[in-house]
Amino acid sequence: MRRYVIAGNWKMNMLPNEAIEFMNTLAPMVKDTKNEVIICAPFTDLFYTILSAQQTNIHVGAQNMHWEESGAYTGEVSPNMLKCINTEYVIIGHSERRQYFNETDETVNKKVKAALKHGLKPIVCVGETLEQREAGQTVDLITGQVEKGLAGLTAEDLDNVIIAYEPIWAIGTGKTATNEEANEAIKEIRNKVREEFNTDDITILYGGSCNDKNAKELFSMSDIDGGLVGGASLKAEQFEKIVNFN
Ligand code: 13P
Repeated sequence: MRRYVIAGNWKMNMLPNEAIEFMNTLAPMVKDTKNEVIICAPFTDLFYTILSAQQTNIHVGAQNMHWEESGAYTGEVSPNMLKCINTEYVIIGHSERRQYFNETDETVNKKVKAALKHGLKPIVCVGETLEQREAGQTVDLITGQVEKGLAGLTAEDLDNVIIAYEPIWAIGTGKTATNEEANEAIKEIRNKVREEFNTDDITILYGGSCNDKNAKELFSMSDIDGGLVGGASLKAEQFEKIVNFN
């Protein structure tokens, strides 16, 4: 049966007290959902968010990590640091990290492998800019990101990997990809995964101005398994509606 995943990415928002309040508000609202609910919190909120998620059906993830276990990497957080506080997921290669912090497909690949090695489940982000879309490069770009980002993994590894297709021009702009655009791109990613790993068993989310008004239509498309939600994940009352879309 198809599994839906609704993941919130708080980005650089929420203080610990706000995180705890959010979790306490959201938990009873989503307790009966069959969908998987994930909140990806900033490092300083993670421990509080994980504690607040105990005895609930909400899963918790980080938004980034280094690939090394320890060392002279000032300001970085390692996979084992995340794992030891019971972090379950970690977003890897978000376009904001690629754009502002020089992440490449190569660093994405190192991080994905390190996450899996430490029992963390990576949510791997791919997506094109508006210029790339207008130049007809979308499919090559996103399938290339998938190929390089997941290089060296096995089909079994993919059980613990989620891919998020987030067109950069739709992030934080209020401009959602149409249902068809999102579905087509995700279908191409699915084909690429089949070609590389010989499996159809992969969860692929859409992200980019996803909200309580458009979620149901997007998630009803043939290839979209849920959403990675930014702005609309900051208020429990709004995020709950997306989680409970079905
Ligand atoms: P918005 O939902 O705010 O457009 O952000 C999408 C996103 O980047 C989630 O990772």
